[in-house]
Amino acid sequence: MLRTKLQSIANAFRDIVTLAYRRVDLQADIDRSSAELERLAQYSDVPAPAVKRVLFTEPDLAARKYLIGLFSNAGLKVRQDAVGNIFARWEGADSSLPPVATGSHTDAIPYSGKYDGTVGVLGGLEAIRALRKAGVKPRRSIELIMFTSEEPTRFAYGCLGSRLLSGQLKPERAAQLKDEQGETLEAARISAGCAGSLADVQLKQGAYSQFVELHIEQGPLLEQAGIPIGAVTAISAPAALRVRYQGPGGHAGGVYMADRHDPLLAASQLALEVEAAAKELGGQETVGTVGVLDVHPRAVNSIPRDVLLEIDVRDMDGPRRDRVLDRIRQSADRFGAERRVSATVEEINADPPVTCDERIIGAIEQAAAEARHKCQRMISRAYHDTTFMSLIAPVSMIFIPCRNGVSHHPDEYASPEAIKAGVEVLAGTLAKLAE
Ligand code: GLV
Ligand code: MN
Ligand code: MN
Repeated sequence: MLRTKLQSIANAFRDIVTLAYRRVDLQADIDRSSAELERLAQYSDVPAPAVKRVLFTEPDLAARKYLIGLFSNAGLKVRQDAVGNIFARWEGADSSLPPVATGSHTDAIPYSGKYDGTVGVLGGLEAIRALRKAGVKPRRSIELIMFTSEEPTRFAYGCLGSRLLSGQLKPERAAQLKDEQGETLEAARISAGCAGSLADVQLKQGAYSQFVELHIEQGPLLEQAGIPIGAVTAISAPAALRVRYQGPGGHAGGVYMADRHDPLLAASQLALEVEAAAKELGGQETVGTVGVLDVHPRAVNSIPRDVLLEIDVRDMDGPRRDRVLDRIRQSADRFGAERRVSATVEEINADPPVTCDERIIGAIEQAAAEARHKCQRMISRAYHDTTFMSLIAPVSMIFIPCRNGVSHHPDEYASPEAIKAGVEVLAGTLAKLAE
C-alpha cells in the first residue's frame, strides 16, 4: 500500500519535472536556429553547399561580427580575448560562483559543411534563450564560448583558442606560429583587431565549474542505432606530424630513372606506411590519414624537388597511438635515406585522450530522459575544444546524429529535429549544472 503510494508520488514528481523540461523544449525556436545556421554558412570562401571559413580571413571576421550581434541581441554580456575567443555570459544569481560553460567553434576547413562546430555555438545560444524563456534562473552564470580556430587549417594547430585558454599552448610559442604565407599568429590576430596580450588568454584552473559541448557525431553510430543523443565518455588522442622530403629535382625527360632522387616517391611510400602502421599496430579505433601532400614545383615535366606531407594519427589508446607514430617517424627517415633525399620530421602535436566527467554524463542522461529522448554513451573519435577544456574543468559532450555519419564534407547534414533534440538536452543539462 505504502509502496504504491510512494510510487505514485514519485511518478507525479517525475511528471512535474518532465513538464518543466517540456516547456524548455516547447520554447526552443529551432526555425530561428536553422535560419541562423544558414546565414552563418553564407560566410564562406567557396560556393555553397561547401563551406570554408579560415581563421581571421574575411568570412571568419564577418561571421564573428554576426555572432557578436546575435549574442548581444540575446542580452548576453560579450567579451573577446587576445586570440579572438568570444565569451557571451548569462549572469546567474550568484556571480561569485564559477560559471558553467558551453560552446564550440565556427571556423570550417576547406570544402566542409555547415554543422561542424556551428551547432554547438548557435545551439548553445538557443539553449540559453530557451532556458531564459522558460523562466529558469540559474544560480551559476552560464557562459557560451566561440573558440578560435578549432580547425588546424591556417596555423597547423587544431584548437588554438582552447589550447591557449587551458595553458596547454604557451603564448610565446603561439605568437610565433606561422601560416603558409609566413605570417605569424601574433601579426594575424593583431590585424584582425584582437586587443591585449596572448599572455592574458589563459584561464585559471576552476575558472568554470563544468564545460559541456554540443556537436554533431561526425560518425554513423547514432543514426544507425536510431538514437538521437550521445553522451560522450571519452575523446580520442590526436596527433599530427609534418614530414618534408627534398631532392635535386631535374628535367622529366633529361634524367635517367637510375639517376633520380625523387622526394615524391619517398612521400608515396610513407603514405602507404601510415596505412600499414595504423592497421598493423593499432585496433579499430586507430586511424592514420595523410590529408596534406604538397608537391613543388608541381609541373608535369619536372621531377619534384620539395614534398610536404601532413599526417594525422589518432587512437583511444595513447601509448598505442605513440607506437604508430614511432614507426612512421622511423620509416620516414628510412625512405629518405634509401632514396637519398633529405627528410625532416616534425611533430606538430601529440595530445593524450580525455576521460569525461561522470557527473556531467549523468546530467546529460537525465536531461535526455526528461526530454524523452533516448541516449547512449559513446566515445568521440574526432577531437574538440573539449579536449583542452578538460585541463581546467570537468567536461563532457552531447552528440547528435548527422546523415550517414558524413562530416568535413559539403554533404554534412543534421536535421532540424536532431538539432532541436540536442539543444533541448543541452538546455536541460546546463540547467542542472548551473543549479
Ligand atoms: C576536428 O575537426 C577533428 O579533426 O577531429
Ligand atoms: Mn572539424
Ligand atoms: Mn568540430
